[in-house]
Amino acid sequence: MSSKVETIERFILDSQPDYARGEFTNLLYDIALAAKIISHKTNRAGLTDILGEVGAVNVQGENQQKLDVYADDVIFRMCDHTGRLCAMASEEKEEMIAIPEQFKKGSYILVYDPLDGSSNIDVNVSIGTVFGIYRCRDWEHRGRLEDILQAPRRLVGAGYVLYGASTILVYSTGNGVHGFTLNPELGEFLLSHEYMRFPEPPTYYSVNHAYFERWAPETQEFLRWLQGRRGDDAPKLSSRYIGSLVADFHRNLLRGGIFCYPGELDKPNGKIRLLYEAGPLAFLAEQAGGYASTGTGSILDVEPTELHQRTPFFVGNRSLVYKAESFIQAGKQGG
Ligand code: AHG
Ligand code: MN
Ligand code: MN
Repeated sequence: MSSKVETIERFILDSQPDYARGEFTNLLYDIALAAKIISHKTNRAGLTDILGEVGAVNVQGENQQKLDVYADDVIFRMCDHTGRLCAMASEEKEEMIAIPEQFKKGSYILVYDPLDGSSNIDVNVSIGTVFGIYRCRDWEHRGRLEDILQAPRRLVGAGYVLYGASTILVYSTGNGVHGFTLNPELGEFLLSHEYMRFPEPPTYYSVNHAYFERWAPETQEFLRWLQGRRGDDAPKLSSRYIGSLVADFHRNLLRGGIFCYPGELDKPNGKIRLLYEAGPLAFLAEQAGGYASTGTGSILDVEPTELHQRTPFFVGNRSLVYKAESFIQAGKQGG
């Protein structure tokens, strides 16, 4: 934990590269402000008319929660007119989001999952927001799909907000992972975790065991290894899975562990979305000394072809993710 009192704005300003023209810095400010607004609403969800479903289904085929729509709207309205972006993409919007012609075009792309863990909103369990920032590939045009469909290795920034017992914003711009806890009285995110790293040895593994029968044999073998049922080289781990990827990722970053959402026999790409869930978290994981894999290769190197494409996802301590790859690759080679 950090002892110095430093706001996220001061930290961003002090750590921005000399060549930064302020656009990127201001985009991070905008995201922090959007996080404060969503946090305020989330903490009163039970008291104001923000719980429940809106009666609409999103592009994922999932019933949209009121807070999904609210969070999506806050981020869009915070960022559409500021001149920092040339396009956006949201989990809640089927198509890419162009910046309206009347607004100045910026140099960056924002991809985001406005509300992660929607199934937990109405049962008062932690939920989150995930975001990633790319540079526009082509400065001439207003943002196009090819500006958005970039491999996560080209991210210039990524982070998440966890709306839990406290609200914490964790981000990286390629120089370590840093966490800021919201002081609601001040309305300030204060530096609380500097240079976060996955600790060794790991403590947890996170997976939805209800799907065990859906997995390929090699995936089942890896889970048996994680449970210490295959040989004695597995670390002693406990299981934690709460259905909010951001919450599971954050706990595993603090305590060491692996989050797994494997592909399934009839759904080989699993559930987690590459662009605005797996990619940004893979960027953070590597910045924190960890690693993220599809099971056969780095998430950072997956070239997206569609906005909402899914990917099998294993992320956390490098040693555990490598082990997942060894089981899965052996299985695919018929080992
Ligand atoms: P979202 O609420 O943005 O759709 O994401 C939910 C994701 C992720 O947060 C979580 O780990 C996973 O869905 C849980 O899926 P299962 O309920 O299938 O385990
Ligand atoms: Mn999500
Ligand atoms: Mn979501």
